[in-house]
Amino acid sequence: MTKRMQVYKCEVCGNIVEVLHEGKGTLVCCGQEMKLFEEQTSDTSKEKHVPYVERTEGKYIVRIGENALHPMEEKHYIEWVELIVDDNVHRRYLNPGDEPEAVFEIPEGRKVTAREYCNIHGLWVNRR
Ligand SMILES: [Fe+2]
Repeated sequence: MTKRMQVYKCEVCGNIVEVLHEGKGTLVCCGQEMKLFEEQTSDTSKEKHVPYVERTEGKYIVRIGENALHPMEEKHYIEWVELIVDDNVHRRYLNPGDEPEAVFEIPEGRKVTAREYCNIHGLWVNRR
């Protein structure tokens, strides 16, 4: 059984998928069950992963993370950042060498959650 917005990875080929519509079945790739990413919420290491959201001049700016910035190296970087505003999902893809941040020029919402995916450390959310 899947749930909308869950993120799964195939540990054989590296496919990553996000669920758009839930179903009873199990997601399978390369002949085995895909791994569900748990949303991680707190970082105890020096390296920061929890997204930090700021609202300025009609934009949301999401940084990874708040005090220390996450690396954006070829082998270790933030692949994408999602801002979920009142159940609408907005996503920006990043590349090595970019700043670890994403800007969303969208109207202010009532419920705002940010998620990001680090290619080494997985899925992170700023849910409190
Ligand atoms: Fe990381």
